Amino acid sequence: LRFYFNVYFCVGITTESCPERLVGEEGRRTCPRPCKADSDCGSKRQCLCDGQCGLSCVAPGRTCPWPLPHSENSEARLLSPTHSFSALLEVRCKPGFTLPSGLDATIRRCQGDRQWSGDEPICTGRFEVMGKCSLVLSVSTVHVAPPSVSITLSFFSCRADIVGSRENFCQENQTWQYPHPICKKVYCQPPTEVEQGYVVAVQKTEYEVGFDIHYLCKKNFLLDGAQMITCLSNGSWSASPPHCRARCLIPAERSRVMIGGVKRWPFDVTDAMVPHGENVTFFCKHPHKQCSFTATQTCFNGKLQTPACYLEPTWLQYKLFPHRLVSEIEACEPGDVE
Ligand SMILES: *[C@@H]1O[C@H](CO)[C@@H](O)[C@H](O)[C@H]1NC(C)=O
Ligand SMILES: *[C@@H]1O[C@H](CO)[C@@H](O)[C@H](O)[C@H]1NC(C)=O
Repeated sequence: LRFYFNVYFCVGITTESCPERLVGEEGRRTCPRPCKADSDCGSKRQCLCDGQCGLSCVAPGRTCPWPLPHSENSEARLLSPTHSFSALLEVRCKPGFTLPSGLDATIRRCQGDRQWSGDEPICTGRFEVMGKCSLVLSVSTVHVAPPSVSITLSFFSCRADIVGSRENFCQENQTWQYPHPICKKVYCQPPTEVEQGYVVAVQKTEYEVGFDIHYLCKKNFLLDGAQMITCLSNGSWSASPPHCRARCLIPAERSRVMIGGVKRWPFDVTDAMVPHGENVTFFCKHPHKQCSFTATQTCFNGKLQTPACYLEPTWLQYKLFPHRLVSEIEACEPGDVE
């Protein structure tokens, strides 16, 4: 339809090439009575070409609204001496703005129904960007104190994600302080793989903002870190992927140890293993006295060492004198241990 209008304005200024009535397509405006000659229209009207309405009975003196309400992003100017029927009006976007059609300007014609033809033109910021993403720019002007510098703050909004500064300043030399921002679809790169773990999500080559990845660890591995990470709007993940930490074999056989506050034989513990992060307290013999003191070690991802003071009892000691094992004798008095 827009193309049709253009053709109309190029060739249709004379009534000879007035198109057939096209209101069915337009649908929005009411057309005056159709006609073929002035004699069809009575005394006060003439048979004139009224755009898509085709030849219609119109009163040529009737006017369209003028001046138009102020628009921040565009300027309207009459191309005809009056604003009456068939007058032309140009609406031109201010620099940096454009119409939805992508053009800078459009021409509207005063119709027989006293309205300007076409839709109300809306000029929006022209910072055209990747894909379907577009910016809407609104401008407000702030005048600051002498020496009469005016700063224009432009606020950008974007349906995708903005890369660059959201706020810009018009400088005295009439250039922008920063490059204009662009709207860009942001993705997160695949996070590093988690050894001994797996993700509860479809693996992708890139992840949209807001996408969550949940992690699980294989059997006997403990999840250390975030169970879920989210793709943030700056393309980073909300956290590093977690670790799956291995259990530790208790490095003692013939002594009891303390696990979770309970004194136990290692063979009584399932698989003789403790989870990652568990503290295991060993019993060590006082160098000079018949008493024991404790030393604690922590399991870290499969590694648990005995403390330096710990001595694994021999098989004979364990079999023949179980009550004399270091883990079974009295604890030293607090004063006995330095
Ligand atoms: C992304 O945003 C998060 C949260 O605001 C921040 O902690 C992180 O440093 C940002 N990453 C980058 C690369 O800017
Ligand atoms: C192990 O000991 C450390 C230091 O005393 C403590 O912070 C941690 O919570 C303990 N871990 C467990 C599983 O009890």
